[in-house]
This record gives sequence, structure tokens and C-alpha cells, in this order.
Amino acid sequence: MTPAGSLLVAHDLRKAYGPTNALDGAGFNIHPGEVVAVMGPSGSGKSTLLHCLAGIVTPDSGSIMYGGQEMATMNDAQRSALRRSQFGFVFQFGQLVPELTCVENVALPLRLNGASRKDAERTALARMEQLEVDDLKAKRPGEVSGGQGQRVAVARALVTDPRVLFADEPTGALDSLNGERVMELLTDAARSANAAVVLVTHEARVAAYSDREIVVRDGKSRDMERVV
Ligand SMILES: Nc1ncnc2c1ncn2[C@@H]1O[C@H](COP(=O)(O)OP(=O)(O)OP(=O)(O)O)[C@@H](O)[C@H]1O
Ligand SMILES: [Mg+2]
Repeated sequence: MTPAGSLLVAHDLRKAYGPTNALDGAGFNIHPGEVVAVMGPSGSGKSTLLHCLAGIVTPDSGSIMYGGQEMATMNDAQRSALRRSQFGFVFQFGQLVPELTCVENVALPLRLNGASRKDAERTALARMEQLEVDDLKAKRPGEVSGGQGQRVAVARALVTDPRVLFADEPTGALDSLNGERVMELLTDAARSANAAVVLVTHEARVAAYSDREIVVRDGKSRDMERVV
């Protein structure tokens, strides 16, 4: 069963690491522009699911369709082109390049896609303005706070106008006030760019920013009706 209009759909994903079934029949779907929270206890398979959906990890079996194309039929070059052009990533920490300034960090994905330095940095600054970190452009990641660094990372993840933003515990290292602020800016920026968001989190208050929740337990997933 493929939900109509889905951008990214997965069925019956299985992935074993030795004796551990990290994914044991998990499914997933997301529509363009939708924000889906992936919840569940530690070790339940959330990151593995996100990495499979993003084409970073290859599942042992199961199907992942992006825009109607089965990912397993793509070769490595096609999958990495898909990641670079369609996907953005925000992780828990340690993702900015310490030697580069904040604006160079945000501009990096555009530079990797062949943009000139001037064009890349102009686009990067516009995104940084939206996330209220443009004044940090000349600083290096070691010179900004955790919350500011995460906002820079969100700007970088959105700078290529991805169709899907994958975020794994994007506020995990932040206090609750900074976490709320990053979530608000992340979901606002993604919604205004019409990017779908796959948001892995432990925290119910973070999941409250989503349109829908998927709960992962023992490598299996379940769609939840939001209980308000
Ligand atoms: N590269 C790996 N090698 C071996 N085992 C792995 C690997 N990645 C994940 N696992 C195992 O697979 C299971 C699922 O891990 P996963 O990282 O997906 O969990 P998670 O839900 O993201 O947990 P957390 O909330 O703690 O980040 C765990 O038992 C984990 O130990
Ligand atoms: Mg994880």
C-alpha cells in the first residue's frame, strides 16, 4: 500500500548488525512539506531507519522509494547525487567544519555542487539571516554557542533547498530553551522552503513541532495518531 502523494516511502525494512536486528520490518512514509517525528527508546532503530531512508546505510531487504524510484536500483554515484541535490542533514553535534567560518560552513554544500564562492556565500548568508545567525558569519564554530552552532547547521542543511531534511536529535545537546528555539526555526525554515522533515527525537516536546509521529520499537515502526 503506497499512500497517495508520498515523497519517500519505505516498506518492510530489515537491517541486522550481527545478531542485532536493528530494523525488523520497519515502514515509513512522508509527504512533500510534511514534518514527521520518529520517536522511540534508545536502541530501537531510529537512527538506522533515518540512515536507510537517506541512502547512507543499505538495508538487507525491503523497499525504499524516493519520488517513485526504488533506491536499491540506483548505483552509488546516483545515490550520492540524490543525497547532495535532494537531502539535507542535521545531526546531534560535531557537524560543522572547525577550520571554516560559519558562512563558509553554510556555503560548503553549494561549493561542492560547483557554485562560485561569491554566489555560494550570498545564498548562505540569506539562509543565515532566516535562522538569525548572519551576524556570526566570520566566526568559527568553536567561537559560537551550542544553540547558535545548531542554527548554523540547520542553515547549512537547508542551503541547497532540499526536498527532505533529515534531523537526528538536532536539539539533543541543547538546553530546553535553545532546543525550542532551534526547533521553531528549523520547522519554520523547512515549511517555508516546502521541505519535508524527518525528525528523530526522544523528547515529546520536540515531537510537538511535527505533523505526525512514527514510533519505532525493536526495529518495527508504527504510525501514531496524535493524542492532544
Ligand atoms: N554500526 C553498527 N554496528 C553494530 N550495531 C549497530 C550499529 N548501528 C546500530 N547498531 C545497533 O542497532 C540497534 C539500533 O541502533 P540505532 O542507532 O538505530 O538506535 P536508536 O533508536 O537511534 O538509538 P538512540 O536513541 O540511542 O540513538 C542498537 O541495538 C544498536 O546497538
Ligand atoms: Mg540514534
